[in-house]
Amino acid sequence: MSGPLVLAVESSCDETGVALVEDGRRIHANVVASQVALHAATGGIVPEVAARAHLRWIVPVMDEALSTAGVTLGDVDAVAVTYGPGLAGSLLVGINAAKAVAWAHRKPLVPVNHLEGHVYAGWLLDPGEAEHVAPSFPLVALVVSGGHTFLVEMRDHLTYRLLGQTVDDAAGEAFDKVGRLLGLGYPGGPAISRAAEGAVDRDRAFPRAWMGDSYDLSFSGLKTAARRIIGQARADTGLPTDERDGSLPEPIVAELAWGFQDSVVDVLVTKTMRAVDETGARGVLLGGGVAANAELRARITKEAEARGLALVIPRPGLCTDNGAMIGAAGARRLEAGVLAGLDLDARPSLPLAT
Ligand code: KG4
Ligand code: ZN
Repeated sequence: MSGPLVLAVESSCDETGVALVEDGRRIHANVVASQVALHAATGGIVPEVAARAHLRWIVPVMDEALSTAGVTLGDVDAVAVTYGPGLAGSLLVGINAAKAVAWAHRKPLVPVNHLEGHVYAGWLLDPGEAEHVAPSFPLVALVVSGGHTFLVEMRDHLTYRLLGQTVDDAAGEAFDKVGRLLGLGYPGGPAISRAAEGAVDRDRAFPRAWMGDSYDLSFSGLKTAARRIIGQARADTGLPTDERDGSLPEPIVAELAWGFQDSVVDVLVTKTMRAVDETGARGVLLGGGVAANAELRARITKEAEARGLALVIPRPGLCTDNGAMIGAAGARRLEAGVLAGLDLDARPSLPLAT
């Protein structure tokens, strides 16, 4: 082992994740129990249901992670856990599991900010993956998830200068809501992305909220516009207003999914690249569930290549919530001497430290 082996626990939202990560980079195991199917029935997350599912899965997921990595709790150097932001009841399940392990095996307990985890997913290496260069500073990081959307400048580890953030909905939230309006089910992000791939007509323009010269973002106006455009398309097709009363023909769903996705991706890519140009960053880092979006990945890759920038986008499974990203950030926090006591509490609204 070249660095500490961290057992990392993530339970802030609807994925129960436990991972073993060496030296903040190398994944030895990364087990995620997803609650997507559970929440599909309600079209979104019911916090109490999510917390109970974490409780059901946390021990089996931890057991599987340990056996995949071929280690025992005694071999671990530290226990890292997400303590915010997220759903209080969900966070508490992971926090208490991590505390129990840390206490019983006398291991340091490292508190990790979930948002920092999304950033540090960029440093991860899969078990058999060849070593590649880690993100280099100064960089601009765009984190786009179901709960958060922000742009930060990083000149060194664990230091962030907030450039801009959403003033209303997160990008993923907009994907989920518009996915529902299009009758695509939950979660909307992957469904919209899949539907958009089949779009033949790509001319339909959805509005963009540029927010003046700022790096702030806004998606609620786009959501309202999408509701209006989808409503009009339904009326034109002779369908009732409620999306539960029959769906639009597939080519129209594809066209609308494309138009919506194009608007979100355009704003995200344009703002990120402007931030790179204005801060003189040499690298770009993407994280969060929406960074799994193929169109966003393709367009940012093209822009980064044109500018000769070092771009890091984790593979899709590391963009969405997982334990490994908490292990990557946790190793940095451990190195910086950031430890928690057994009184560690959930911080549902924890901001990214600036
Ligand atoms: O990071 P994440 O797993 O959880 C949070 O911390 O919120 O992000 C989940 C969000 C959901 O809104 C989901 O719809 C979105 O990421 N998402 C996508 C894609 N895959 C997941 N959005 C667009 N395209 C995708 N392929
Ligand atoms: Zn997340």
